[in-house]
Amino acid sequence: MSLTISILYGSTRDGRMGIRFARYLEQAVKARGHKANFIDPLEFDLPLLRKRYSDYQPGEKIPSNVSKLHNILLDSDAFIMVSAEYNHTMPPALTNLLDHFYVEYAKKPSGIACYSGGQFGGVRAAMTMRAILGELGSPSIQRLLPCPGVQDAFDENGTPKDAAAWKKRSDDFLDQLEWYAEALKAARGKEKKK
Ligand SMILES: Cc1cc2nc3c(=O)[nH]c(=O)nc-3n(C[C@H](O)[C@H](O)[C@H](O)COP(=O)(O)O)c2cc1C
Repeated sequence: MSLTISILYGSTRDGRMGIRFARYLEQAVKARGHKANFIDPLEFDLPLLRKRYSDYQPGEKIPSNVSKLHNILLDSDAFIMVSAEYNHTMPPALTNLLDHFYVEYAKKPSGIACYSGGQFGGVRAAMTMRAILGELGSPSIQRLLPCPGVQDAFDENGTPKDAAAWKKRSDDFLDQLEWYAEALKAARGKEKKK
């Protein structure tokens, strides 16, 4: 089943490194025959949260980047969070982006691809992210895809230094994400028909 998978990248930092990992995942998702939406908080440049999408009143002007993201997320079957670890939690740009929306995530799985410059691969941030994603209605799959030393693992185009190891890791992760995404897509389809 071909799926639409949105990849949410969390860093807006000058010289950000995780973009390499995010680009790798975008290519991996496409190589499996899915549509990949790459969501970069720098490109969407959302303000600090004033209103969730659902809080706009009928007739009220919605900023175009907010409605564009609403449509992308609503159209998605699954999400991949590509998140750094900032002070043992997720970067504020990713939290802010997630907080603008709510129903858009419902009954769709998410996968956490966490990373850091050091040796722990961002797993502490991943643990806090699990609670947030559950609350958004997009529970995270069991598998994590941690990347320690992100600055050395990929080049600027997202090509991994150790291609075979990354193929195996990302296949395990994406196999599981696809399983949940397909099951939940079918279940949402049945629900619509009722
Ligand atoms: C504000 C800030 C907080 C950080 N906190 C952590 C941390 O808690 N654990 C960790 O392993 N690395 C931490 N780092 C280092 C990051 O893992 C590293 O800079 C990484 O490249 C950040 O991702 P980015 O380049 O995509 O922004 C921190 C970096 C910043 C800028």
